[in-house]
Amino acid sequence: MTKIFKVGLIGCGHISETYFRAEKYFNNIKIIKCADINHNNALKCAKIYKIKALTVQQLLKDKEIEIILNLTIPKAHYKVAKQSLLNGKHIYSEKPLAINFKDGKELINLAKKNKLYIGNAPDTFLGAGIQKSKELLEKKIIGKIILGNAVFAFPGVQSYHPNPEPWFAKKEGGPVIDMGPYYLTALVNLLGPAKKVTGSIVNGKKTRTIGIGPKKNKKFKVKCPTSYLSTITFHNGSVIHLTLSFDVIAHQNNHIELYGDKGSMIVPDPNMFGGSVFVCKNLGKPWKEYKTNKLPLGRINIRSQSSRANESPTNANYRGAGLSEMAFSMLNKKNNMCNGELSLHVLDIIKSIMHACKSGKVKFIKTRCKKPKIFKISDIKQILN
Ligand SMILES: NC(=O)c1ccc[n+]([C@@H]2O[C@H](COP(=O)([O-])OP(=O)(O)OC[C@H]3O[C@@H](n4cnc5c(N)ncnc54)[C@H](O)[C@@H]3O)[C@@H](O)[C@H]2O)c1
Repeated sequence: MTKIFKVGLIGCGHISETYFRAEKYFNNIKIIKCADINHNNALKCAKIYKIKALTVQQLLKDKEIEIILNLTIPKAHYKVAKQSLLNGKHIYSEKPLAINFKDGKELINLAKKNKLYIGNAPDTFLGAGIQKSKELLEKKIIGKIILGNAVFAFPGVQSYHPNPEPWFAKKEGGPVIDMGPYYLTALVNLLGPAKKVTGSIVNGKKTRTIGIGPKKNKKFKVKCPTSYLSTITFHNGSVIHLTLSFDVIAHQNNHIELYGDKGSMIVPDPNMFGGSVFVCKNLGKPWKEYKTNKLPLGRINIRSQSSRANESPTNANYRGAGLSEMAFSMLNKKNNMCNGELSLHVLDIIKSIMHACKSGKVKFIKTRCKKPKIFKISDIKQILN
């Protein structure tokens, strides 16, 4: 029987339900205690999942807990992760690693110094959709990637999130910090590390109205740019145009399209685990579909619209895979896939996009990471129930 790691949850909000669901899919993680800066949220969570609610300080010092799962808001990721590492706990946080590069780097150094694991979402790139794309690209099915387009554009979370203000806050707000991690992690996974970035910003509506919950109809101020149009050059020579926007009512672009010297590829949604990959090798010829819905971490596990608006009724969502893979890596003393080096590089690109787009200047990326390896089906099977 495999070891089941005892996980302590800090931050009992919207996304926590998805991680409790993950315990059913994966064989080596169990959330046994929870805490929140708002203790009522912890009590509510503890009641639903029949676990114990503690204060944040009690949880950080709890001897039973081996890994802290940090599902707080982006601005709190650094503080909670740092406290966890200082208390001798391994840490896995939701994206992004931190909201400042300096803080992210400090966390990576602290984990290294204390010989603790650090893991970070997104883990969606471990899903069958992005992994199938990677497998086909590595077989050179569309040759060398010359250029591409990636688009995340929607009207913003205010209509379906009861506390949307952090998405529009001065420092940690905006679509690059929020959705950039999915697109950039997928692109680094497919193309390798990024070298430089240029771009520009567009500002949308200055006030938004909350559409749900106790603050419904309350207006609040937008304190950050809400659209970023960037161009990223990767070390392998590929140039990708990335649009990230909270100002678009609707569009019909694909999430990611890659254009190689032998054909084109449509990569499925990097915010989810499944989806088909499409390839076209001749102008005017039909696109070939590579389905992933029968592969592990690609099977549809959502069949009804959940409260999370970005989960469509039929989708594959295995968030928690990165946490489970980290636990497996801890046991087998190997590097985890959603590791600190990768998430720091992604944070570096995020901050570089924001800087380059606001200043209009070219920004060179300071860090470099290894291109992630394929997540082998034999490895996936080891962590699945
Ligand atoms: N909501 C989604 O659909 C979704 C999807 C994927 C990833 N995420 C990520 O998950 C994280 C959490 O998002 P959410 O939507 O659950 O947010 P949320 O606002 O619903 O919940 C966050 C919780 O963290 C608590 N918290 C805040 N600061 C804290 C601190 N310093 N110490 C302890 N607790 C603290 C809050 O009280 C709240 O209960 C974010 O990083 C977000 O980017 C969210």
